[in-house]
Amino acid sequence: MNTEKEIMRKRNRKAVLILLLSSLFTIMFLSSIQAGTFDDLKTLNATNEENCCDEVNSNPITEQPKLGNNPNGEKLFKANCSACHIPWTEATGPALKGARDRWIENSSEENFYKFIKNSQKVIDSGDPYANKLYNKYQKTRMNSQNLSNEDIDDIFEYIEG
Ligand code: HEC
Repeated sequence: MNTEKEIMRKRNRKAVLILLLSSLFTIMFLSSIQAGTFDDLKTLNATNEENCCDEVNSNPITEQPKLGNNPNGEKLFKANCSACHIPWTEATGPALKGARDRWIENSSEENFYKFIKNSQKVIDSGDPYANKLYNKYQKTRMNSQNLSNEDIDDIFEYIEG
Protein backbone atom coordinates (compact mmCIF):
# COMPACT_ATOMS: atom_id res chain seq x y z
CA MET A 1 0.00 0.00 0.00
CA ASN A 2 2.60 2.42 1.07
CA THR A 3 4.77 1.92 -1.98
CA GLU A 4 1.74 2.10 -4.27
CA LYS A 5 0.77 5.45 -2.74
CA GLU A 6 4.29 6.68 -3.15
CA ILE A 7 4.35 5.65 -6.79
CA MET A 8 1.05 7.45 -7.35
CA ARG A 9 2.35 10.56 -5.65
CA LYS A 10 5.51 10.49 -7.75
CA ARG A 11 3.44 10.07 -10.90
CA ASN A 12 1.27 13.02 -9.94
CA ARG A 13 4.28 15.14 -9.25
CA LYS A 14 5.71 14.21 -12.64
CA ALA A 15 2.44 15.02 -14.36
CA VAL A 16 2.23 18.43 -12.69
CA LEU A 17 5.83 19.14 -13.60
CA ILE A 18 5.27 18.19 -17.23
CA LEU A 19 2.13 20.30 -17.34
CA LEU A 20 3.95 23.28 -15.86
CA LEU A 21 6.90 22.93 -18.17
CA SER A 22 4.80 22.53 -21.27
CA SER A 23 2.64 25.55 -20.45
CA LEU A 24 5.83 27.53 -19.77
CA PHE A 25 7.18 26.54 -23.19
CA THR A 26 3.88 27.39 -24.83
CA ILE A 27 3.91 30.83 -23.25
CA MET A 28 7.53 31.39 -24.25
CA PHE A 29 6.83 30.19 -27.76
CA LEU A 30 3.78 32.40 -28.22
CA SER A 31 5.46 35.49 -26.83
CA SER A 32 8.49 34.93 -29.08
CA ILE A 33 6.25 34.78 -32.12
CA GLN A 34 4.50 37.97 -31.12
CA ALA A 35 7.77 39.74 -30.38
CA GLY A 36 9.12 38.55 -33.69
CA THR A 37 6.22 39.76 -35.77
CA PHE A 38 6.18 43.07 -33.99
CA ASP A 39 9.90 43.62 -34.55
CA ASP A 40 9.58 42.49 -38.13
CA LEU A 41 6.74 44.90 -38.67
CA LYS A 42 8.71 47.74 -37.13
CA THR A 43 11.75 47.15 -39.34
CA LEU A 44 9.53 46.48 -42.33
CA ASN A 45 7.82 49.81 -41.88
CA ALA A 46 11.10 51.58 -41.32
CA THR A 47 12.73 50.15 -44.46
CA ASN A 48 9.58 50.72 -46.46
CA GLU A 49 9.56 54.33 -45.47
CA GLU A 50 13.24 54.75 -46.18
CA ASN A 51 13.01 53.07 -49.56
CA CYS A 52 9.75 54.59 -50.58
CA CYS A 53 10.31 58.26 -50.69
CA ASP A 54 14.06 58.57 -50.76
CA GLU A 55 14.29 56.31 -53.77
CA VAL A 56 11.51 58.03 -55.61
CA ASN A 57 13.07 61.40 -55.03
CA SER A 58 16.73 60.56 -55.46
CA ASN A 59 16.35 58.17 -58.35
CA PRO A 60 14.84 60.20 -61.14
CA ILE A 61 14.88 59.05 -64.73
CA THR A 62 18.07 61.05 -65.35
CA GLU A 63 19.89 58.04 -63.82
CA GLN A 64 19.42 56.36 -67.19
CA PRO A 65 22.28 56.81 -69.60
CA LYS A 66 22.10 60.00 -71.56
CA LEU A 67 20.57 59.69 -75.02
CA GLY A 68 21.45 61.97 -77.90
CA ASN A 69 19.48 64.92 -79.13
CA ASN A 70 18.39 63.84 -82.58
CA PRO A 71 14.64 64.29 -83.06
CA ASN A 72 14.47 62.28 -86.31
CA GLY A 73 16.52 59.46 -84.77
CA GLU A 74 14.42 59.47 -81.62
CA LYS A 75 11.20 59.36 -83.60
CA LEU A 76 12.43 56.51 -85.84
CA PHE A 77 13.83 54.55 -82.87
CA LYS A 78 10.57 54.80 -80.94
CA ALA A 79 8.46 53.87 -83.96
CA ASN A 80 10.60 51.04 -85.40
CA CYS A 81 13.05 49.68 -82.85
CA SER A 82 11.80 50.21 -79.29
CA ALA A 83 9.46 47.19 -79.45
CA CYS A 84 12.55 44.96 -79.30
CA HIS A 85 15.48 47.15 -78.28
CA ILE A 86 16.42 49.28 -75.27
CA PRO A 87 19.50 51.39 -76.05
CA TRP A 88 21.45 50.54 -72.87
CA THR A 89 20.31 47.04 -71.94
CA GLU A 90 19.15 43.77 -73.40
CA ALA A 91 15.53 43.20 -74.36
CA THR A 92 14.22 40.94 -77.13
CA GLY A 93 17.28 42.10 -79.04
CA PRO A 94 20.67 43.27 -77.77
CA ALA A 95 21.46 46.65 -76.25
CA LEU A 96 22.17 48.95 -79.15
CA LYS A 97 24.73 51.23 -77.51
CA GLY A 98 28.09 50.38 -79.06
CA ALA A 99 26.54 48.20 -81.79
CA ARG A 100 28.18 50.06 -84.68
CA ASP A 101 31.62 49.59 -83.06
CA ARG A 102 30.94 45.90 -82.48
CA TRP A 103 30.16 45.47 -86.18
CA ILE A 104 33.26 47.39 -87.25
CA GLU A 105 35.33 45.19 -84.95
CA ASN A 106 33.73 41.84 -85.78
CA SER A 107 32.49 42.28 -89.34
CA SER A 108 32.26 45.60 -91.21
CA GLU A 109 30.39 48.88 -91.09
CA GLU A 110 28.83 48.01 -94.43
CA ASN A 111 27.31 44.87 -92.89
CA PHE A 112 26.05 46.94 -89.96
CA TYR A 113 23.82 48.92 -92.32
CA LYS A 114 22.94 45.80 -94.31
CA PHE A 115 21.97 43.87 -91.19
CA ILE A 116 19.53 46.56 -90.07
CA LYS A 117 17.97 46.77 -93.50
CA ASN A 118 17.80 43.00 -94.03
CA SER A 119 19.35 40.85 -91.32
CA GLN A 120 18.54 37.59 -93.11
CA LYS A 121 20.74 38.48 -96.07
CA VAL A 122 23.78 39.01 -93.84
CA ILE A 123 23.07 35.83 -91.85
CA ASP A 124 22.73 33.81 -95.08
CA SER A 125 25.97 35.26 -96.45
CA GLY A 126 27.71 33.31 -93.67
CA ASP A 127 28.94 36.36 -91.75
CA PRO A 128 30.15 34.84 -88.44
CA TYR A 129 29.13 37.82 -86.26
CA ALA A 130 25.60 37.94 -87.72
CA ASN A 131 25.20 34.21 -87.16
CA LYS A 132 26.52 34.46 -83.62
CA LEU A 133 23.96 37.17 -82.85
CA TYR A 134 21.17 35.25 -84.53
CA ASN A 135 21.92 32.09 -82.53
CA LYS A 136 22.38 33.95 -79.28
CA TYR A 137 18.95 35.55 -79.52
CA GLN A 138 17.20 32.19 -79.87
CA LYS A 139 16.94 32.57 -83.60
CA THR A 140 14.56 35.47 -83.30
CA ARG A 141 14.83 37.22 -86.61
CA MET A 142 15.01 40.97 -86.63
CA ASN A 143 12.53 42.24 -89.17
CA SER A 144 13.77 44.22 -92.17
CA GLN A 145 13.83 47.96 -91.73
CA ASN A 146 13.08 50.18 -94.68
CA LEU A 147 15.55 52.90 -93.74
CA SER A 148 18.30 54.87 -95.45
CA ASN A 149 21.86 54.98 -94.10
CA GLU A 150 21.14 58.57 -93.01
CA ASP A 151 18.12 57.42 -91.01
CA ILE A 152 20.25 54.74 -89.36
CA ASP A 153 22.91 57.35 -88.57
CA ASP A 154 20.22 59.54 -86.96
CA ILE A 155 18.93 56.61 -84.88
CA PHE A 156 22.43 55.83 -83.64
CA GLU A 157 23.18 59.47 -82.87
CA TYR A 158 20.14 59.34 -80.59
CA ILE A 159 21.17 55.97 -79.10
CA GLU A 160 24.81 56.82 -78.47
CA GLY A 161 24.06 60.17 -76.83
C1 HEC B 1 11.00 42.43 -83.89
C2 HEC B 1 12.09 42.79 -83.03
C3 HEC B 1 13.12 43.78 -83.50
C4 HEC B 1 12.92 45.04 -84.01
C5 HEC B 1 11.60 45.77 -84.21
C6 HEC B 1 14.23 45.59 -84.24
N1 HEC B 1 15.19 44.66 -83.91
FE1 HEC B 1 17.21 44.89 -84.07
N2 HEC B 1 17.49 43.01 -83.39
C7 HEC B 1 16.50 42.14 -83.00
C8 HEC B 1 17.10 40.87 -82.63
C9 HEC B 1 16.35 39.64 -82.11
C10 HEC B 1 18.48 41.01 -82.81
C11 HEC B 1 19.56 39.94 -82.57
C12 HEC B 1 20.03 39.39 -83.89
C13 HEC B 1 19.05 38.44 -84.52
O1 HEC B 1 18.51 37.59 -83.83
O2 HEC B 1 18.83 38.57 -85.74
C14 HEC B 1 18.70 42.37 -83.28
C15 HEC B 1 19.95 42.91 -83.56
C16 HEC B 1 20.18 44.20 -83.94
C17 HEC B 1 21.50 44.79 -84.16
C18 HEC B 1 22.85 44.11 -83.91
C19 HEC B 1 23.25 44.45 -82.49
C20 HEC B 1 24.68 44.11 -82.11
O3 HEC B 1 24.93 44.03 -80.91
O4 HEC B 1 25.53 44.00 -82.98
C21 HEC B 1 21.31 46.08 -84.53
C22 HEC B 1 22.38 47.09 -84.85
C23 HEC B 1 19.88 46.30 -84.55
N3 HEC B 1 19.22 45.16 -84.19
C24 HEC B 1 19.30 47.51 -84.84
C25 HEC B 1 17.93 47.72 -84.92
C26 HEC B 1 17.34 48.99 -85.29
C27 HEC B 1 18.13 50.25 -85.62
C28 HEC B 1 15.98 48.81 -85.28
C29 HEC B 1 14.92 49.81 -85.62
C30 HEC B 1 15.10 50.56 -86.85
C31 HEC B 1 15.73 47.44 -84.89
N4 HEC B 1 16.93 46.81 -84.67
C32 HEC B 1 14.47 46.85 -84.74
C33 HEC B 1 15.16 42.40 -82.97
C34 HEC B 1 14.55 43.55 -83.46
